[in-house]
Amino acid sequence: MDELLARASRTLRTAGCESPRLDAELLLGTVLRATRARLRLDAAAVPDATVAGRFEALLARRVAREPIAYILGRRDFRRISLAVDRRVLIPRPETELLVEVGTELAAGARVVDVGTGSGAVALALKDERPDLRLSGIDCDADALAVARENASRLRLDVRFVQADLLDGASYDAILANLPYVAHGYELPPDVERYEPRSALIGGEDGLDLVRRLVARARGVPLIALEVGFDQASAVCELLRRSGCSSVERLHDLAGYERVVLGRR
Ligand SMILES: C[S@@+](CC[C@H](N)C(=O)[O-])C[C@H]1O[C@@H](n2cnc3c(N)ncnc32)[C@H](O)[C@@H]1O
Repeated sequence: MDELLARASRTLRTAGCESPRLDAELLLGTVLRATRARLRLDAAAVPDATVAGRFEALLARRVAREPIAYILGRRDFRRISLAVDRRVLIPRPETELLVEVGTELAAGARVVDVGTGSGAVALALKDERPDLRLSGIDCDADALAVARENASRLRLDVRFVQADLLDGASYDAILANLPYVAHGYELPPDVERYEPRSALIGGEDGLDLVRRLVARARGVPLIALEVGFDQASAVCELLRRSGCSSVERLHDLAGYERVVLGRR
């Protein structure tokens, strides 16, 4: 096992993968239905030809820079595990900040996750705060199909709606991780080649959708927006101009201003 993993790690490092050993262990673990701890315990075992063949097939996908989450078909997010495929953006750890904002809301609040994708924010929040009334909106029918499949498998009661940013319902809070990458920004190959462009690019400066949402959200008491590492000041200004009485910046674990929170 160890020799196979060492060889695979070298191949993945050469292909430019950032965490080659981890990726190799996750792929072999998938083939063997074994945890990474189990792989270490069985380090001396020699996998048979069927296992080796299936592992090579997954490895080839990763060498082509397909993200691990798409190959495995899942991504853990807060306390839940989401099914993901190329119809949706892979939920990122920094987006968990939006869920944290949601956990502080008053009992029974009506919350909408705008640009829900796989349903990550809405479903993770419903899992932690079952009393909240959660909706998830996306303009993309394929993404909504993934979100609904996740809700049904996780048995979480979230209302998913297809709309351009907002539907006609009233909300107490908006949580949104909309596309915010500026046009022309160079993305890593894993992202560029595999993740949906419509989930990433937010126009010339990345803020087209954020601007439109802020303009339409004037009646909502709280709005929390995930932003790019250099966009917090511009979004704070947008929120102030839209009538927010207080605006706050929240930092992610890497220290970036990742979420901007406006209250009225
Ligand atoms: C950055 S992804 C975020 C997905 C998910 N919330 C997450 O954090 O993993 C942005 C999502 O916004 C959706 N989106 C883009 N434009 C939209 C619009 N005008 N109205 C609603 N959703 C939109 C995309 O389809 C995509 O699913």
